Formats: sequence, structure tokens, C-alpha cells
Amino acid sequence: MNTTPRAAHAPEPCVVVIFGASGDLTQRKLIPALFELHLQNRLPEGLCVLGNSRTEMSDDAWREHLRPSVQKHAASFDAGEWARFARRLHYFPGSASSPDLYGPLVRRINEIAREHGTVAPRAPDDSPGGVQPNVLFYLSVAPQLYEPIINQIGASGIVFEGKRWCALHPAAMPWQRIIVEKPFGTDLGSAESLNRALGRVFEEDAIYRIDHYLGKELVQNILVMRFANTIFEPTWNNQFVDHIQVSAVESVGVGRRAGTFYDGAGAMRDMVQSHLLQVLALVAMEAPSVYDQDAIRREKIKLINSARIPTVEGAHELAVLGRYAASGKPDDEDSGRAYEQLEGVDPARKTETYAALRVDIDNWRWAGVPFYIRSGKKMARKLTEVVVQFRQPPVNLFRKVDPALAAAVRPANRIIIHIAPGEGVSMRFEAKVPGPSLRLDSVQFEMDYAKAFKAQPLEAYGPLMLDAMRGDQTLYKHRDEIETGWRLVQPVLDSKRVRDAIQPYPAGSWGPPAADALLARTGRAWHNPA
Ligand code: BG6
Repeated sequence: MNTTPRAAHAPEPCVVVIFGASGDLTQRKLIPALFELHLQNRLPEGLCVLGNSRTEMSDDAWREHLRPSVQKHAASFDAGEWARFARRLHYFPGSASSPDLYGPLVRRINEIAREHGTVAPRAPDDSPGGVQPNVLFYLSVAPQLYEPIINQIGASGIVFEGKRWCALHPAAMPWQRIIVEKPFGTDLGSAESLNRALGRVFEEDAIYRIDHYLGKELVQNILVMRFANTIFEPTWNNQFVDHIQVSAVESVGVGRRAGTFYDGAGAMRDMVQSHLLQVLALVAMEAPSVYDQDAIRREKIKLINSARIPTVEGAHELAVLGRYAASGKPDDEDSGRAYEQLEGVDPARKTETYAALRVDIDNWRWAGVPFYIRSGKKMARKLTEVVVQFRQPPVNLFRKVDPALAAAVRPANRIIIHIAPGEGVSMRFEAKVPGPSLRLDSVQFEMDYAKAFKAQPLEAYGPLMLDAMRGDQTLYKHRDEIETGWRLVQPVLDSKRVRDAIQPYPAGSWGPPAADALLARTGRAWHNPA
């Protein structure tokens, strides 16, 4: 496996083949991210894109279709640069699950690669029928199409031809890699099946299971904060930490994704099993032997393997599900309706728009420290953060100075990693209030990322795609991470008792009361900032 350190070599020219070219993700995230990279001169020379979906469209029509979305979603827009960038974009219509697509698709890949000079100069002209340039496939389609497309890519021989050609011309090694979007399966069985399908066609080091949370600056900063400093790590354990919260809540509702995707997934699959377990793993894992993809992934897998797997019978004590009620605001994305009233929602499924879960890690570092993770739609505000809540000092030295202090418990120390919005890190500690008498109050120490580095954190998709072009999987998930994550949440998904207890919560609130009770049982509370 490739163990080249991150960013050690440049992204290589390739043809990015996007399946799902007319979809939401392509328009809102992928193309705007590539355009931002173009503006920053970070795209490799010769990089071009071939979009595929079923809609009949010319290259120009696709470019026109993308333009307003890039204007809206890219960090900045310049008409001249857009015109230059748009020349890199091509479109090829057809059904990606049909075998008939792939012969003509390969011809088109080779054609545009020649047009843009994507083929490495070392590549001989006599390469047999397969693809000649490096190809980065991107599956940005509905999850039920993943396996059919992977199977067709396999059957078409594109990847095999590449390998055979490599064997004939070892100096000219075009690669074929694939980025697979989440959701990665709907349960353990389907995730294993998808991993097997991928493994039949691609080597593990060519499979990039994307999780855009791993591309977020503040998520990447977790390992830097913990392991490039000495002040945090000595206290990062059950001797000093009381509990940890990982929250990713949003104020927006599900809107028109309800019927196409969300009702078959829910918050546990959409956010907890994927993004939040990854964040938890980074917060809790042991130090890797070195900062490289294999060492980091090994530690994450070890950590997730140490999480106590709930039983189906006991899951109701650890998990709470909720579903948002009507907001009554006709101009929101749900036209003010409750989740159950949205098009395509089957109320009998009892799909959750909120999930909270207690996770216990059975290792020496974390035994006895609960991790609470939650995610929800239509909540009081957008908030993605990690709260590390420390224990009280072992003794209250100040109890005699101020009688009020003897009885009251002062707020314990707390570190918050603000992933979004307001990227940064804050720390709460006690200080003396200025004045002749000794009084204590809590103060905040804040590190604001944008101010500290005079830069806005980058949108995650662009840097992640560059990593795939340079062959760096550090910020992508290994198959074992995915399967271990499913093993952890599967009993909760399988528990009828958890699902039957699903509670409504008011739109714009902090979720169902049972989620508060989950923490209150042990005298704790969610961090719900104004
Ligand atoms: C996606 C989920 O993976 O992450 C969405 O499918 C969710 O439902 C989104 O809204 C949240 O991402 P972010 O970056 O806005 O926190």
C-alpha cells in the first residue's frame, strides 16, 4: 500500500468521470470545489472532467446548467476564469448501469484526454483499447446505483485494461481510482457487499470512500491539536475528562431530499454512522506511530473496535430518536410542514430526523468516560462541535474564602472544538474577578481560526479530490472503518423498542426531551449555546 506522506507529491493529471453529473452534489459541491481549485491554480495541468447522467445534453448545455450553481456556491466567481475553467468540462449522456455505455465512454475519455493533454507524455501511443489517461471515477449517484456501476466498470475492462497495459509498459502507469460517496451501505450487510463489489474491480489503495467531514479544517486540526502540543494529551483521558459530546445539528429541514434519499436513511445512517463516528475516532484514538494514512487508519479502526457494541435488547438505554414537528413557517424548505408530511415520507417507517447515542469506549484511556453523539435537522441552530468536559478539581480550596463557593460547584474546565460555524477552539477556565475580595468567575480563552491564520477554512471537497489525484488516502475511510462503524450502530437500528419510542420535537428546538434525559440520568447536560 502507498504510504507516501500527505501532500508529499503533486496531484496528477487525470480525467475525472462524474457519474451523477446532473445531481445536486455535483452542482452544489463538486464543480464549485473544482472551480475554486482552478482559481487557486491548484488543479493539475491537463485535468478535465467528463460528466455522465441520463439527461441528453451537449458539453455547452452542461456548462450553462452548472454556471449559476458555481456562481452561488463557489467562494468567489469571475466570468473570465469561469470561461477558461468551463473548457475543461465535458458531458456524456447515457445510463451508467447499462453495459452499452462503457465502450463509447472509454473512447470519449481518451479523446478529451488527448485534447487537454491529460495523457502523460511518457504514455506510448500504441496502448491497447483501454483508457490511456489516469481516470478518477466519482460515484455521485443514488446509492442503489453504486454496485451496478462498479460492476459495469469491472465488466467493461477499463480497470483491467489499465493493469494489463501497465504490465506491458511498466514505465507508463495510468491509474484508475474511484471515489465513493456516502451513504456507504444502509446496514452492515449492504456495506460488506459494496466493499466486496469494489474489491472485485479495484485494489483497496484505489478506493476512496469519501467523508467530507474528514476534509474539514477543524476536524483535521484535531490530531494536530492533540499531538503537536504537549499541554492537551496528558489530560486527555479518564483521569481528567468527565465526558465528551460530539454534535452536528442543523437548522435546515430535509426538504425535497425526503423522498429521494432521507426517508430510507435517517439521522443515524446519514450522520452518526458516518461523520460523527469519524470525528469521535479522531478525538479518542491513540497517537499514530507517524502521520501517515496507514498508521492513522489503524488507530481509528482500533478505537472504533474498542467501542462497546450495544445489544438490541439494551439499545433503548443508549439511543434516542426524534422527528421534527411542523414549523408553521410557509417559506422554509419544508413549507412549514412536519417531517411526516413531506412528499415521499412513509410515516410507518418512523424515520428519525434526530438521533442521539451514548458510546462507551472499553480501553484503558477511556473506560468510564461516556461519549454522547447527536445529530438533528430543524434544530435551534447550525452547530458542529466537540465538547471535552473535564472533571471538577479534586478539592475545592476556596470553600472557606467565600461561603457561596463552599456550596456551589463551579463550572468545570471545558474545551470546545468549534468545527462549524465560527471555526476555532475555546477553553473555559476559572479566574479571579478583579477586586479586593476573592471571587471566582469562568472565562473563555478563544482561538479563532480565521483571525489566527487570516484565512477562511477551505470547502472540504476540493482538497479531498486533490488528495485522490495524488494517491493520498489519509482523509478517506478504509473498508474496516466502515464495517466496524456499522457493527456499532446496527443494534440500535435493529431495535424496535428504540424506533417505537421515537419522539416529536418542535422545529427550532434542541431535540426531544428523551435526549436530555439520556444525559440527565448521570447528572450531565448537552451543550446548547444560544
Ligand atoms: C451530509 C448529509 O453528509 O452532511 C446531510 O447527507 C447533511 O444530510 C450534511 O446536511 C451536513 O454537512 P455540513 O458540512 O453542512 O455539516
